[in-house]
Amino acid sequence: MSSTTAVSPGKIILFGEHSVVYGQPAIAVPVTQVVAKATVTDATHNEVLLSAPDLGQDNWLHDVPENHPLAAAVWALWRTLPANTPPPERLHITVTSTIPIASGLGSGAAIAAALIQALAHHIGRDDLAQPAVVSRLTYEVERIHHGAPSGIDNTVVSYQRPVYFVRDLAKTEPQIYTQLLMGRRLSIPAARLDTFSSQQPLHFLIGDTGIKAPTKEAVGDVRQQWQADPKSFENYFAGCGKLAKQGKKAVEAGDMIELGQLMNENHELLKQITVSSPELDRLVQAAQNAGALGAKLSGGGRGGNMIALVQEDELEQGVVKQALLDAGAQKVLRTVLAPKV
Ligand code: PMV
Repeated sequence: MSSTTAVSPGKIILFGEHSVVYGQPAIAVPVTQVVAKATVTDATHNEVLLSAPDLGQDNWLHDVPENHPLAAAVWALWRTLPANTPPPERLHITVTSTIPIASGLGSGAAIAAALIQALAHHIGRDDLAQPAVVSRLTYEVERIHHGAPSGIDNTVVSYQRPVYFVRDLAKTEPQIYTQLLMGRRLSIPAARLDTFSSQQPLHFLIGDTGIKAPTKEAVGDVRQQWQADPKSFENYFAGCGKLAKQGKKAVEAGDMIELGQLMNENHELLKQITVSSPELDRLVQAAQNAGALGAKLSGGGRGGNMIALVQEDELEQGVVKQALLDAGAQKVLRTVLAPKV
């Protein structure tokens, strides 16, 4: 019985969460230590069974609404097939994930991306498992649950590389991705997308506040505040955008001191935007005091995760990790952004 598996990593945002929604640049990098995995197997039953064993869920595709997260990924792929294609059948799709849910690590996007990739390969459509296509389809799934996401999450988990992402507000999303699909994958005018790499390994700790914080609510709140005080908020957004630009240069140059300082500055701006929280601030401060080169919240904020840039020797000594745990982190993950070989 044939079976196809695909994986997609988690992600952290190094610079530019929230401001990216307003057209400012942002940087996200994959976190390969946590992954979503999808396996598609031929089945003897006629239907499509969607299994999420981590959640104890088994559902027939036709019993769940089209906006069910796993069904939405199946239908997003199916809609790209020729109009006379029969509905999917005789498949068992199983999805597992080690990416914490609703905590800014891109779990929803990674699950959709893994499922779309595995299913595309399984039905012999390797062309639809290309990063640009997976990213577009994952964006469609993300829209159902997040309203109007910027597109950075689906991009980084689909390309599985560090991305410098600038949304072009003048163009609609379908146009963006039509251009992606036409093969102009990088530096396209509608959503400028550069992949890049670091000069030397960059080590990060990811501290989880343990507080689940839906991104959609934080993004909605920021929008309301921006509408009430556009001048101040546009200043904050522009400040974050500038940090993302400088951050890309610092990553490329391997300048860890500069990178850390820029992360600290980004956290201060995110506080002004009101997306931090006392728990996040406590973890950021603890990391800074314990010798991290820089620290900030990462993702939607209000809870979820923060990140700290640390020296390599931290991995043996564990001083910053211990400080994060002492300050209330529920879990501390470690990731390294390795230079491209
Ligand atoms: O999914 P999260 O929590 O990592 O947040 C994504 C980043 C935001 O800028 C807050 C939202 C977006 O659509 O870009």
